[in-house]
Amino acid sequence: MDKDLGKRRSAEEAAKYVERGMTLGLGTGSTAAYLVDILGERVKEGWQLRGVPTSEETRRHAERVGIEIIEPDETTQIDLAIDGADEVDPNLNLIKGGGAALLREKIVANAAKKFIVIADKSKRVTALGAFPLPVEITPFGWALTVRAMREALKASGFEQAKLTLRARDGAPVITDGGNLIIDCELGRIENPAPLDAKLSSLPGVVETGLFTDMTDLVIFGDDNDVSIAKAA
Ligand code: A5P
Repeated sequence: MDKDLGKRRSAEEAAKYVERGMTLGLGTGSTAAYLVDILGERVKEGWQLRGVPTSEETRRHAERVGIEIIEPDETTQIDLAIDGADEVDPNLNLIKGGGAALLREKIVANAAKKFIVIADKSKRVTALGAFPLPVEITPFGWALTVRAMREALKASGFEQAKLTLRARDGAPVITDGGNLIIDCELGRIENPAPLDAKLSSLPGVVETGLFTDMTDLVIFGDDNDVSIAKAA
């Protein structure tokens, strides 16, 4: 399968759900980038669209293609958020955060009236966990937070969990929120919601990349076609 073609097809299909005048949550990553390009074309055709970007990278991209950017406040209505994912299970639970944008992505997806995920078909899995789970933590006391995460994971049955501070070019990756990312190799995650709750309850943990019970629709693309999975 040509993954890039799959990503593009899923973005094209998702664009069909976008209506003139909408305020959109703009996702982050290579799949969401296809959508931003398509939306930029719409704006050039005269559509009025406003975007709440989920990362500085997406903000720059959206600005480049002419989409009006808004800073969300408590009155902001996000009509539709569209974003990529690293894994999608049969219940439409997700692992996200491969691009380190999980915090803003989760805030925006949670606030949106509708949340659509776009992905190439390789992201469809029978259970989450082959992709290491990204967890965003504060820099202060980060090693203590990692120790607490290890203990919590052990108590949740993940005895073999391997936790790694995400780094690039020898330096820790810093998120748009000024935090760090811990990638957790867990293996199969049978029950994502309790695991999300457990990790999120630890001091120092800002957010996890587990998105449970949030997704309305997933559009999977491949070389020839798209398929749509809807929340039960
Ligand atoms: C960004 O933090 C992520 O959640 C991305 O949405 C996810 O990693 C999917 O990215 P791709 O579309 O590049 O595969």
